[in-house]
Amino acid sequence: MIQTEKFVFITSLSLMSLFFVAILGAGQIMKTELPGCLPDGKLFDEGQVIDLDPHTYQVYCVAKMWAFDPAVIEIPRGSEVDFYLTSVDVVHGLYIENTNVNLMAIPGNIAFAKARFKEPGVYRVMCHEYCGTNHQYMQANIIVK
Ligand code: CUA
Repeated sequence: MIQTEKFVFITSLSLMSLFFVAILGAGQIMKTELPGCLPDGKLFDEGQVIDLDPHTYQVYCVAKMWAFDPAVIEIPRGSEVDFYLTSVDVVHGLYIENTNVNLMAIPGNIAFAKARFKEPGVYRVMCHEYCGTNHQYMQANIIVK
């Protein structure tokens, strides 16, 4: 009986040490990053559009009942945009017409998509996940000039 207890104790201790070393190795050697907030560490307090250079943008989009923040995004034709999306309340969706961008906005999670807007015009952004009584009004616009 004592032998069995020793075996179980040593095995669990070895496994815990192995997992601890594996976590350290993943972080230090493989440079694995745990899921976090924004790449720059800022919280999603409000939506924002960051102009990296004249044709490269980062959009931090916050979905909430029942709107997208920012509601209007204006960019020049040919722009490449990185979209980072989250939700502050329930699960929403984000679909940008005439693009491949189709994301889920999940509280506590950040979804990512990249799109290039070659043609000028107004690209409607719609919520495609039923999120409450005003779901059908949850829209935004991307104006490409
Ligand atoms: Cu948000 Cu439907």
